[in-house]
Amino acid sequence: MPDCLSPTPTGSIKNLPMPDDMAQAVSDRLVKQIKRAIDQSQAGIPFDRFMEMALYAPGLGYYVAGSRKFGEEGDFITSPEVSPLFAQCLARQAQQVLDGLGEGELLEFGAGSGLLAADMLAELERLDCLPSRYAILEISPELQIRQREMIEQRVPHLVGRVEWLQALPVQFNGFVIANELLDAMPVSRFRMGEADIEESFVVYDGGGLKERFGEPETPGLKMAVENAIQPEEGLPEGYISEINLRQASWLRALAQSMRSGVVVLIDYGYCAKEYFHPQRSRGTLMCHYRHRAHADPFRCVGLQDITSHVDFTAAARVGLEAGFHLGGYTTQAHFLLGNGLDALLADSDPGDVAKHMALVQGVKRLTLPSEMGERFKVLALNKGIDINLQGFTLRDFCERL
Ligand SMILES: C[S@@+](CC[C@H](N)C(=O)[O-])C[C@H]1O[C@@H](n2cnc3c(N)ncnc32)[C@H](O)[C@@H]1O
Repeated sequence: MPDCLSPTPTGSIKNLPMPDDMAQAVSDRLVKQIKRAIDQSQAGIPFDRFMEMALYAPGLGYYVAGSRKFGEEGDFITSPEVSPLFAQCLARQAQQVLDGLGEGELLEFGAGSGLLAADMLAELERLDCLPSRYAILEISPELQIRQREMIEQRVPHLVGRVEWLQALPVQFNGFVIANELLDAMPVSRFRMGEADIEESFVVYDGGGLKERFGEPETPGLKMAVENAIQPEEGLPEGYISEINLRQASWLRALAQSMRSGVVVLIDYGYCAKEYFHPQRSRGTLMCHYRHRAHADPFRCVGLQDITSHVDFTAAARVGLEAGFHLGGYTTQAHFLLGNGLDALLADSDPGDVAKHMALVQGVKRLTLPSEMGERFKVLALNKGIDINLQGFTLRDFCERL
């Protein structure tokens, strides 16, 4: 089976480390809150509502409670944490867009630890094209604080240019970046039933949270599944997958707020044909806890990340419907190389052997097909700008969408 069809990892779930007592107490409170929501429902809460609470319930959800998430000491590692060259390549892509626009700002969604913002600002300063404002839209108040600390620590003289927004800007001109944002949006889960599409609900049963499938309640779910899956795919009964119904309204709002510029979405995912492949019969849902990946969203609720892969065909389609043009679709490796990754590595000082070796290791991790190079894709959506983005000059796989 090629790598792109490997099923969701079940991981060595037996070997998951135990949370400490304090973390367990937070998780127990969150489960109680979820159980109350289930008690008030008819037949359980839709899966996306469960995922939203598990990740974002105020004070308790994974992204808003205080645990360390990113990097070697957290639960997972993202590209900006792997190597500063990732941010440097993105800065070069931003520079091309800002030059093309003549003026503009940066807007980052879901800025995580704040490292990408800090490293991009440092590189933009080196390139002499600092924007007047680097705006961040971050849903988690706790992460907003961490981001400010990170930027203050790494580029203290540039923190004045950073602004944390509470809502989308109006008439935005510039470069928008969202690295691993779409995979963190709550998704609906569905199953191909005997007669029709069924929706996943979360119920409380026998002392724990469980998944049950039933007649869809979420408006638009059935139609979205039917649109996403071509009839010729012939998905077998019992086939389970996910669908992100929230990205459409997010992209529509973003298109409305933008006058001109480029949105770059980077995430792990596939085009629809690969995403809804008959062999991917358990979907793409994945949980991360202390660098172990497994597929049980009801373990360590609120203490582990829950994600799903991105259907880039759907993201591109709703983007076009919202008023964007397709700027390109490629792999992370091609995008970074198109933005000069090899030259950046060659420019690093080989005299500082430890630093140089760390950069080489980082480049391998970012670009090798077996690591992040091909699993991660980059989709660009343009509005009000005619530009051949340099990140897509080596390969553009738009025809696969
Ligand atoms: C998987 S993390 C990625 C973090 C960072 N971009 C990186 O690459 O390291 C997802 C981030 O998106 C944020 N987030 C999730 N949904 C969001 C939304 N609708 N608007 C803004 N931020 C969001 C989370 O709080 C978190 O910071």
